[in-house]
Amino acid sequence: MIEDAFDIPALDGALSGTPFAGKLQFFPSIHSTNTHAMQQAEAGAQHGSVYFADEQTAGRGRGAHAWSSPPGSGLYVSVLLRPRMAPADVLWLSLATGLAVRNAVMQTTTLSCDLRWPNDLLFGPRKFCGILTELNAEVTRVRHLVIGIGINVHQQQFPPELRNIATSLHVETGRTWPRQELLLTLLQSLHREVVALSDPANAAASRQSVLERVEKASSWVRGKQVHVEEMDGFDGLTEGLDARGFLQVRTAQGLRTVFSGGVREFKDTSGK
Ligand code: BTN
Repeated sequence: MIEDAFDIPALDGALSGTPFAGKLQFFPSIHSTNTHAMQQAEAGAQHGSVYFADEQTAGRGRGAHAWSSPPGSGLYVSVLLRPRMAPADVLWLSLATGLAVRNAVMQTTTLSCDLRWPNDLLFGPRKFCGILTELNAEVTRVRHLVIGIGINVHQQQFPPELRNIATSLHVETGRTWPRQELLLTLLQSLHREVVALSDPANAAASRQSVLERVEKASSWVRGKQVHVEEMDGFDGLTEGLDARGFLQVRTAQGLRTVFSGGVREFKDTSGK
């Protein structure tokens, strides 16, 4: 296994001036940092608490999928926020987290990566980062939310069922990248995004900026033939994001909005 330990006091010092300073909790092994963060939030943990682990034994992905989290291989981190916003606006934070991870990966490795709505990160067709945002809310008010981020860093191979769809920073570059630096730049980027989106005086401009940056960073939001795993599933051509940040897909029946489903590249299996 690659030696890539975290230096928590150094990380904590470098985060001074952000709400994460003094609130880092590391676990050599845990079931799921998201499950733990949601439990801690219920118990009153503070805005800015960060839970991260060297291994997860029950890592969770979107749509009840598992998130493979072998020891010493990835970045498994959950951030607890208590933003003053309506649940309908949480998508902005979720999109902005994708941008923050992309920025951290580019800053650390100089590699450019693709964003698949709402916030998967890919190199070509293969995913290396997933984000699971969970919240506890009233209709008009978020009580707390947890943004869970999983990044494949040191994995050199994947089980057969993931081989065509998953990748890691190591697979892409043939070298190791320090998780410490990745986590630091990620939390710094995320902090900037959260500050911008939480400022009511600047909300419109911040959202517009997220829309523009996602459109620029993603080959998926416009002109891509996709299959959407929502309801019974549907196919169409992506046509950008609406003013709330939802993906628009032009189908044979008209323009449809993707609310929750996973978006995949459309593969024509009709045999024509
Ligand atoms: C996805 O399905 O793409 C989302 C994956 C999210 C995985 C991260 S790893 C840290 C946090 N803890 C979890 O159990 N899941 C998230």
